[in-house]
Amino acid sequence: MTIHPPLEQIPADILSAADYETRAADYIAAPTLAWLAGGSGTEQTLRANREAFASLQILPRLLNDFRQASTRRTLCGTPLEHPALLAPLGHQRLLHTDGERAVARAAEATVTCLVASTLSSLAMEEVAAATSGPKWFQLYCQPRRDDTLRLLHRAESAGYQAIVLTLDAPVQPLSRRAQLAGFRLPPALAPANLVNCEPLQQVALKPGQSILLHGMMSEAPGWIDVDWLLTQTRLPIIVKGVSHPDDALRLKAMGVAGQIVSNHGGRSLDGAPASLHCLPAIRAALGADYPLLLDGGIRSGTDIFKALACGADAVLIGRLQGYALAVAGALGVAHMLKLLRDELELCMALAGTPTLDDITTRCLTGDS
Ligand SMILES: Cc1cc2nc3c(=O)[nH]c(=O)nc-3n(C[C@H](O)[C@H](O)[C@H](O)COP(=O)(O)O)c2cc1C
Repeated sequence: MTIHPPLEQIPADILSAADYETRAADYIAAPTLAWLAGGSGTEQTLRANREAFASLQILPRLLNDFRQASTRRTLCGTPLEHPALLAPLGHQRLLHTDGERAVARAAEATVTCLVASTLSSLAMEEVAAATSGPKWFQLYCQPRRDDTLRLLHRAESAGYQAIVLTLDAPVQPLSRRAQLAGFRLPPALAPANLVNCEPLQQVALKPGQSILLHGMMSEAPGWIDVDWLLTQTRLPIIVKGVSHPDDALRLKAMGVAGQIVSNHGGRSLDGAPASLHCLPAIRAALGADYPLLLDGGIRSGTDIFKALACGADAVLIGRLQGYALAVAGALGVAHMLKLLRDELELCMALAGTPTLDDITTRCLTGDS
């Protein structure tokens, strides 16, 4: 099959954000597509994330006044023009030669908050320099605290406005789909942020010990590390990867500024529930005013509406970002974000909700 180079103009037949997913196979080599699209295990959670959105319907309401309509919201001190952020996606130069720089330019053009990954192909300073818009840095704790601290301080100096601490993937094997397709990360695309960080050390295992449980997990962060991190930065820390209300409550009590309900887009624990289904209980536990975001399975403005109705203040867009990047670079990502925003606004107009605060569970019907 022929893989096309990225387009230099917006394809005329892409009319919805989700169309980028359908078109992506023409622009991404099969092993890379398997890496991007795939989920862990038998992909139960990957599927559940999408099915959860399909299980809800939105009730149209009539005659509401839209003269004060707005999609604006401020989250953890960051003013947002609209409630869709770009989720952290590592290794974006696999998808386009400009990688994260293209995504950052698209973020600037659409005034979208970008969350740059620890595992980005380009250094976080290069990514930050490509957008004057809002930006957060996603942090993976490193095996050595000094390395974690250095990443944190670099993010502060580069002008990131919040730290997104991802905790739901302390170990993450390559998906079965990616393995079967023969995916391998080319050494030239190793994460630029981690060049001087010490990799995971081989732990000497005692007889009967597990490589995973006693080896790899020995370097995974614990509650004590989150407590420590909170004392190391003036930036708000937002934890990504929350599914259980008890974890959410404990993180809030520790002083975490916001949380993201997420199962890593079905790439971590296979068999975990859809993030959309976890959201209402977590919102109920944390209270109405605590910053809470969601990701996993969002492919349209209607999905964004449903996530907000279930209790999210905003959402993050993962794979769609990768598909749009591969199809048409910065232009594609900017176009995909504009389509998402148009779709959300259309949905708000027809559901009779002029502001984001008007989007509540009362707008929904279905088995949430
Ligand atoms: C290819 C790929 C790479 C990812 N890399 C990261 C990462 O570096 N850090 C992180 O916190 N999450 C990462 N994620 C998870 C996303 O941030 C997000 O949680 C997920 O993609 C949301 O689901 P969606 O793809 O259905 O929108 C990655 C996801 C994908 C698909």
